[in-house]
Amino acid sequence: MSELSVKHLLGIKYLKEEDIQLIFETADHFKEVINRSIKKVPSLRDITIANIFFEDSTRTKLSFELAEKRLSADVINFSAGQSSVKKGETLIDTVNNILSMKVDMVVMRHPNPGAGIFLSKNVEASIVNAGDGAHEHPTQALLDSYSIRERLGDVAGKNVVIVGDILHSRVALSNIFALNLQGAKVKVCGPRTLLPKYVETLGVEVETDLKKALKWCDVANMLRIQKERMDLSYFPSTREYTQQYGVNKAVLESLDKEIVIMHPGPINRGVEITTDVADSGQSIILDQVENGVAIRMAVIYLLASKIK
Ligand code: CP
Repeated sequence: MSELSVKHLLGIKYLKEEDIQLIFETADHFKEVINRSIKKVPSLRDITIANIFFEDSTRTKLSFELAEKRLSADVINFSAGQSSVKKGETLIDTVNNILSMKVDMVVMRHPNPGAGIFLSKNVEASIVNAGDGAHEHPTQALLDSYSIRERLGDVAGKNVVIVGDILHSRVALSNIFALNLQGAKVKVCGPRTLLPKYVETLGVEVETDLKKALKWCDVANMLRIQKERMDLSYFPSTREYTQQYGVNKAVLESLDKEIVIMHPGPINRGVEITTDVADSGQSIILDQVENGVAIRMAVIYLLASKIK
């Protein structure tokens, strides 16, 4: 396979396993490029990309911008908080105004699930979903799987547990799709109130006992409690959540093997993960961030080759 089967990256749900392998092989090349003294290639000199963010971001926004610049694309950035969205302009009007400045690709983060899909049906540009509400965060899942492949050699056959607030997590949903496509075994672990009712229909098992889940897994992906998406409390207190679902050094040392610890960020140190775990040799959290640039370069490069 030499090109992606899709014109947009709206979610892992729309990808084939071969798309993921093509993105990984392309990212292998770009990872080598960004570790050279000259970290830039001229591949996308004729492409203009708009990063439009309607929700806060540190890693994803910077990582996309850096990936685009490493590929020599022209880049414009838009933050809804400082824009005419505040004066009532619609999403389609906003994007069509941006596109009339001859933009080829839009990378969008939006609080509403499906915003990227909606945009892809209404404007003439390649759309990359940089996170849409509690729906999908495809490049995060790609960089997560790529980081597992880098640390453990392969994703197929690995036991991966996703721990925490599965209900509000776009990272969880995209990871479930990506891991299942690649032949990993997936469990979700957290309080029942933070697990979607029909989560098993996505091809995962539920384990509410963290210790059992950690004993079973090769990789634990720890998620943040997304208080910004909650209008009520889903557990009695943060302290009790941490007692049952937080990972600390003592818990890891009680296992008879060394598991890999992941986190998409931002971390709430002392809640879902302690500092001694986050900063330990078992943690690949900063590798995930580093790999994010290579993965996003690969995604943009492959989508741009379908525009030309
Ligand atoms: N992982 C992630 O999406 O982080 P940001 O919200 O900082 O982009």
